[in-house]
Amino acid sequence: MSHLNFDVAPIERSVREGRFPAGSFRNRVIAIVLLAVSSSTLVTACTSSAETADALPPGKPQEAVIAPVPQATARVTKDHRTKDVMPLKEAFKGRFLIGSALNYPELQGKNPERVAFVRNHFNAITAGNSMKPDFTQRVEGQFTFADGDKLVEIAAQSRATVVGHTLVWHSQTPDWFFKAPDGKPADRTLALVRMRKHISTVVGRYKGRIKQWDVVNEAISDSPDEDLRQTPWLKAVGPDYIEQAFRAAHEADPDAVLIYNDYNIEREYKRPKALRLLKSLIAKGVPVHAVGIQCHWRLDNPDFAEVEESIKQFSELGLKVMITELDIGVLPTKYQGADVYRTEVMTPEMQATMNPYTGGLPDAVAQQHAERYRQAFEMFLRHQDKIGRVTFWGVDDEESWFNDFPIKGRTDYPLLFDRHRNPKPAYFAVVKTVSSEKP
Ligand code: XIL
Repeated sequence: MSHLNFDVAPIERSVREGRFPAGSFRNRVIAIVLLAVSSSTLVTACTSSAETADALPPGKPQEAVIAPVPQATARVTKDHRTKDVMPLKEAFKGRFLIGSALNYPELQGKNPERVAFVRNHFNAITAGNSMKPDFTQRVEGQFTFADGDKLVEIAAQSRATVVGHTLVWHSQTPDWFFKAPDGKPADRTLALVRMRKHISTVVGRYKGRIKQWDVVNEAISDSPDEDLRQTPWLKAVGPDYIEQAFRAAHEADPDAVLIYNDYNIEREYKRPKALRLLKSLIAKGVPVHAVGIQCHWRLDNPDFAEVEESIKQFSELGLKVMITELDIGVLPTKYQGADVYRTEVMTPEMQATMNPYTGGLPDAVAQQHAERYRQAFEMFLRHQDKIGRVTFWGVDDEESWFNDFPIKGRTDYPLLFDRHRNPKPAYFAVVKTVSSEKP
C-alpha cells in the first residue's frame, strides 16, 4: 500500500477488525480493496464464531469477534454491535439490486431489529408469503392488505424496490378459486373472471409502488413428458392461463416489470421448457419482461456452468434475468427441487445423517459454503448487464425456509448472516467478489 499518498493504516485496522471505516466515501473504497487482500483473516475470525456460537438459542450473548464501532454511521444498524459491516446494497451499487424477503411476523411488528437490518442491507424487498393469494384473498371477495401495505411502507422508508410475490401459482392459493357455487370444478370462464379480479385488485392497489411482480410462479413441469405443470389453473383455464395472467397484470399496472418465476429452470432438464414457454409468450406479444430464477441451491449442485448458460440463453430472448430466491443449503438432501409440496418429516433415525449440524456449522463446511457463494456472485457479476436483481430468500439462517424444506425441523445455514445476524464467511466472500471484479 506504499504507493498511496496518505495513511491507510487506520482504514487497514478497521478492515482487519471486520468493519468499514467511518468517514469519507474514499475510505470505504479503500476498505473494499483492503478487504480483498485481508478477507481470509476475516473469514477465519468469523468462522470460529459460526462454529461455536451460531446454534446458541437467540438472546444468549455471543463472543464478539468483530470490534464495536462507536462512530457508526446512520446507514448501519445498531441492534447488534457486530453488524457494522458494509451493507450489501452499497457493495453492489451500480451492479444490480440486492434483495431479501420479509415474512409476515416481521410485517406484523415482530422483530423490528430484523426489519432494520433488511433496510440497512437490501434495496429490494420481496413479500415471502404475505402477497400470495391465500393471504390477499383467502375468502372470495375479501381482500386483506395489511401485511402488503406494511411491506410497501417499510420499503418506502429506505427507498427499496418492492417485489410482489406472487399472483398465479398452484400452491398457497385457496380452493375456492377453482370451485363453482354448486361445488363442481369452476369452468374456464369463471376461473378467468376470478383470476382477473384477483390480479386487477392486488396489482391495482399497489400501482406505481410495487415495481416488479412475480406474475406466474412455477408453471413448468418437472416431469420429462410434459412442459406445463398440471395445476388447478391449467385444468380450469387451459394453457393460455399464463398469457392471460400477464395481460391482466399489465393492464392493472402498465409500468410494472412482469416476471415469470420458477425453480430449476437454470438446470438443463428444465431450461428448454422454460425457453419454449417464454419464446411463445414473446411471439404472441404477451407483456413478460423478465425471467426469475429462484436459485434454491446446495453445496454440490447445480453445476454453475449450466446456470451461466441459462442466464445467457434467457437474456438472448430479450428478457432481464432476476435471481429471485437465492439460498445455498448445506444439509444432505435427496430432493433437489423447490416444489413446496415435497416436504418430509424427520424421523429420530434420520437425525444424525440428515440433520448433522445442530450444534453449529463446522468451519470446513462454512468455508465450502462461502466458496460456493463466491462462485455464484462472480458469475452474477460477469453477467451484471443481464441481471436486474439478486434476492436472497430470507434474511438470516434462523428464519430460512430451508430449516423446514424439504425435511421439516432441521438446522440449516443457507444465508449470508447467522442466527444472530452476524456476517458469515459467505458474506465476506460475496462482498469480496465486487473488489476482485475484472474490469
Ligand atoms: C416458501 C416460504 O418461504 C415458506 O415460508 C412457505 O411455507 C412456503 O413457501 N418457491 C417460491 C416461494 O416461489 O414462494 C416459496 O416460499 C419457496 C419456493
